[in-house]
Amino acid sequence: MTMLKETPLIFTLGSKSFKSSYIRPLDVEMPDLAAYYGDSYRAEMPDIPNVDEITAVRHFTNMSNKNFSVEVGTYPLGSCTMKYNPKVNEDMAALPGFANVHPYQPCDTVQGSLELLYELEMQLNDLTGMDAYTFQPAAGAHGELTGILLIKAYHDERGDTKRDTIIVPDAAHGTNPATAAMVGYKVREVKSNEHGLVDLDALAEALGDDVAGLMLTNPNTLGLFDCNIDKITEMVHDAGGLCYYDGANLNPIMMQARPGDMGFDCVHLNVHKSLSTPHGGGGPGAGPVGCKDFLKKYLPRPVVVKEDDGFTLDYDMPESMGKVRSFIGSFGVLVRTYAYMLRNGVEGLKEVSEGAVANARYLMERVKEYYELPYDEPCMHEFVITSAWQKEKYGIDTNDIAKRLIDYGFHPPTVYFPLIVHEAMMVEPTETETWRDLDALAQAFIDIAKECETDPELVKGAPHGTPIARPDETRAAKDQILTCLD
Ligand SMILES: Cc1ncc(COP(=O)(O)O)c(C=O)c1O
Repeated sequence: MTMLKETPLIFTLGSKSFKSSYIRPLDVEMPDLAAYYGDSYRAEMPDIPNVDEITAVRHFTNMSNKNFSVEVGTYPLGSCTMKYNPKVNEDMAALPGFANVHPYQPCDTVQGSLELLYELEMQLNDLTGMDAYTFQPAAGAHGELTGILLIKAYHDERGDTKRDTIIVPDAAHGTNPATAAMVGYKVREVKSNEHGLVDLDALAEALGDDVAGLMLTNPNTLGLFDCNIDKITEMVHDAGGLCYYDGANLNPIMMQARPGDMGFDCVHLNVHKSLSTPHGGGGPGAGPVGCKDFLKKYLPRPVVVKEDDGFTLDYDMPESMGKVRSFIGSFGVLVRTYAYMLRNGVEGLKEVSEGAVANARYLMERVKEYYELPYDEPCMHEFVITSAWQKEKYGIDTNDIAKRLIDYGFHPPTVYFPLIVHEAMMVEPTETETWRDLDALAQAFIDIAKECETDPELVKGAPHGTPIARPDETRAAKDQILTCLD
């Protein structure tokens, strides 16, 4: 990886004397703005950097070059699915008929946009085995919140208010228990068995008449598909609970298996993971939520409906949970989702999921001899390895290996997650990586494993090619200092 030059703040690049040749001097009389605006007229000029165009362009280009993205190199961040988003999606979202509509426009002036949402809903129903969708949630975690509110509305309407607990497996993504707690539920954890899957005995013990539902992602965060899924959802239903599918991991099962057929009652989709839209990161992405017919009436309003003479928005939903976001959701992201689904079609989406699994399995087979594999089972779209051997023998931990990958030009995988695996590295190559890139990543993992033996200090001091090596990540996020580096 090349040595990154520090970028000064743009405020230090300006000059008071600089005059832009693009902004011509006023050739009309200057109005008396002070008289017009009175007290709100500023007494001093704002401290806006006074730079020429090329300086501004270089400044922002240099800054963007410091950002690692999937368009720069392989980004195997497990559970976060950094796959390539085809540019044709962007072209579709930028079509003036989509990009320039206003959410307050009357329905008869936005028929094309409403038709797109309606068609997208039909396609997502087919993809997941659900009966209806809301597009309001702005990200996966926001979708979880909406889904668990659906489950709550269902029990509340039945007067079954003693159900105050949501079950989550110990391999669950952190947003699952957080969501359940936000809705006001207690969280009951269920242990995984020795294969990394839900322990059915532990589940049976956890179930009772206080359980409102189960949140589960399948394949789970170890990248393993739980073949007992029919049994699991049946057990929850028999106990009176509902089943929520965390669709963040739908990408390896698209057009192969459907959450609705596995017995789930509602689902959220991270369209940035499966359907190639920009990553939500808490929004503004999209986390559509689908549900079976009996939960439809509780969905956020409005929903798009098809009538004899076109499409309209239905607000007449007395049992709706209300709104979880303004208007209909992140419309531009949904246009990208629709474009991607149309472009791939059924066969294409099937290939996407097959590719995600094939790439992960190939990479896992190539590196598993060099790192400990806590669950040696065929993985789906991602797998978890650990640096347990390297830690024991050379005092090198997962963070060191992740940082060393940066020197090789790769984004590190997800580290220290899932929590049930000590020193975890969760690797998700995605289907959009080529064999050449997969081989290069595998070789980097292998070379680093060898360096751990031959030159452990090199790995412990990584990265060696970045302006900052090991920031305090918590402080960097919570106590930002937005000034020049000395
Ligand atoms: C399994 C799982 N569930 C939920 C989420 C939350 O999704 P989002 O980041 O879009 O809020 C993620 C995100 O990585 C995830 O991996």
